[in-house]
Amino acid sequence: MNTAFSRVLLTWLGMLSLVTCAPAATDLDAWLRYSPLEPATAKKYERLPSQVVVLGDSPILKTAEGELLIGIPKMTGRTLAAASNVNGTTIVLATLQDAQTLSPGISHNEKLIGDGYSITTVKVKNSECLLITALNDRGVLYGAFALLRKIAQGESISHLDENQHPAARIRWVNQWDNLDGSVERGYGGRSIFFENGKVHDDLTRAGQYARLLASIGITTCTINNVNAAPQVLDSGFIAQVRRIADVFRPWGVQLALSVDLSSPKVISGPDTFDPIDVRVVDWWQKKADEIYGEIPDFAGFVVKADSEGRSGPSAYGRTHADAANVIARALNPHGGVVFYRAFVYNHHLDWRNLKNDRAKAAYDNFHPLDGKFDHNVIVQIKNGPIDFQVREPASPLFGDLKFTNKAIELQITQEYTGQQRQLCFLAPMWKEVLDFDMHVLVGEPSHIKEIVSRANPDTPFTGFVGVANVGLNETWLGSPLAMANLYGFGRLAWNPDLSSEQIINEWTRLTFGNDPLVVQTISNLQLDSWPVYESYTGPLGAGTLTNITGNHYDPGPESSEENGWGQWHRADHDGIGMDRTVATGTGYVGQYPPEVQKLYESLTACPDNLLLFFHHVPWTYALHSGKTVIQHIYDSHYDGAARAQEFVVRWQKLAGHIDEDRYRDTLSRFEFQAGEAIKWRDAICNWAYRTSGIPDKAGRVGQLLLHQ
Ligand code: GCU
Repeated sequence: MNTAFSRVLLTWLGMLSLVTCAPAATDLDAWLRYSPLEPATAKKYERLPSQVVVLGDSPILKTAEGELLIGIPKMTGRTLAAASNVNGTTIVLATLQDAQTLSPGISHNEKLIGDGYSITTVKVKNSECLLITALNDRGVLYGAFALLRKIAQGESISHLDENQHPAARIRWVNQWDNLDGSVERGYGGRSIFFENGKVHDDLTRAGQYARLLASIGITTCTINNVNAAPQVLDSGFIAQVRRIADVFRPWGVQLALSVDLSSPKVISGPDTFDPIDVRVVDWWQKKADEIYGEIPDFAGFVVKADSEGRSGPSAYGRTHADAANVIARALNPHGGVVFYRAFVYNHHLDWRNLKNDRAKAAYDNFHPLDGKFDHNVIVQIKNGPIDFQVREPASPLFGDLKFTNKAIELQITQEYTGQQRQLCFLAPMWKEVLDFDMHVLVGEPSHIKEIVSRANPDTPFTGFVGVANVGLNETWLGSPLAMANLYGFGRLAWNPDLSSEQIINEWTRLTFGNDPLVVQTISNLQLDSWPVYESYTGPLGAGTLTNITGNHYDPGPESSEENGWGQWHRADHDGIGMDRTVATGTGYVGQYPPEVQKLYESLTACPDNLLLFFHHVPWTYALHSGKTVIQHIYDSHYDGAARAQEFVVRWQKLAGHIDEDRYRDTLSRFEFQAGEAIKWRDAICNWAYRTSGIPDKAGRVGQLLLHQ
């Protein structure tokens, strides 16, 4: 090609890419990039008001105003100014009560519930106004974010008449940050809150995090590790923590703390932490009063007790209800709540006893206590009975605990699912659990999403908790694409009926712009990522066959066995899988309601994808697909690894369609993942072959070893 011509072509292509690509905003903005819209799309917003008015002096409403003032001009190129009076067409931000003072036409709206919002077009002083209103300030802020989300996706906003409210009252994230600045199971750098035993002087990142959380409707953040250092309750430390609460507050985000049950004893209190000792009762009360003195909107505590070496009520022969209630009663006068984690199990189980089963622990511990917890205690239940494996059945506790507040705990940080070094979009996995029908009594909510959403007078607090673990890394979670999991968590907590497709489509548009090729390619990659990851790390429900005594990342199937942790798969020469049936196994299946038992107890009804979670079968057992277990294991790993190689090629289609930095960064991540998938494939296939002695029919595994 003639060089002059090629130069012109390159310049032209460069200009074209400037027009068509979302400009490189910073990863810190995550899905709040507010990238300029294509001119044709921006034109849709020509009639948007050019002023915004806040009624009242709420800091949260001011935040909402600030966000509109940044977002709307950036995206549409139009000017928007803050004004003090409605004078011509205006965006009005107000609680319903204040909005009603504007015009008699603004009536009571019974569709507004909890933190919900409405966005409607109303006439004020003969001018068309866009009113964003809610019962509380937080709802108005959520409405402002919803409007921005619509514009970012190029949706029409003329004649808007929308009411939205969150499915559940509880929408919290937990951070597992340690006071020394490390983050347990965090893959996005050091803590945004702490360093060297102190709260950071500069809390800019904490504020930016609150902004992201608010934009997806999260109300509360627990800032420290569930393996809590008692020092968080030191008076001096509470004064420091207060600064974080101050930074969160304008975003409508409340602060909560994880606490260790032994705190009264450890921090200059009585020489006991027995929950029914009056001195301990008194200590918690005084501590709660002190905290509320510093942080009036403090949300509450999270407690991990008698689990993985944490102190607990068993030290005094007391129950989890005793432990939870002593704290709950101290918080109650202030409106605070206690999340008591159901993740209680003995990690010194005798693996030689085939009846032992860690999966049974949560139910065994909490079922007898149903009805014994105070009204402001919420039992926080991990989605599955083990520990955030790549696939688990839903915890049977969701079908139980009729008189106890329940929240589902989902893990956003990818501890067992690739640690953000591999792509694994978790919304499809969470949806499977949320959409699972527990078949509880007729007339009661039955799908888990309903069980954790619907509150009633006995159980007023239900909802969602996500273990997020963002860090100081510019991408928050350590990888830009992993942020879809934080976004997806928030969106599902708001509306668990959203499909994974809707969520990822939305996230991709907000994060990468509306180019159809980009939206389709990234959404499809994300949607394929969990099945692919599962296929080469833990198919058939065997659990993630990772190094469980070490990093929870590399393949390590042997590490599951012959130790007390209880993440067993029971693989030996003859077969694989945990027999959890009532008839011959550990009896775990008996913890489910009868209809669910029918699904899992029988080999014929049990779905293939959970077969090895519930049954011990010979390697030659024929699946519903007709394949043997061992052949499925080989095929699944080869197929999964091959699909992971294709991720690279699929991503390469985006060259020139997204900014160079994110393109290159993610390309190298996919190249890395392609290698990791081969590592997993070979490690697990060779282990399965060594254990079973049965070679792969396709000749990929075993033949070489046989001939050596
Ligand atoms: C997992 C994780 C731990 C964490 C625990 C919990 O076991 O590996 O780091 O403390 O879950 O949820 O409490």
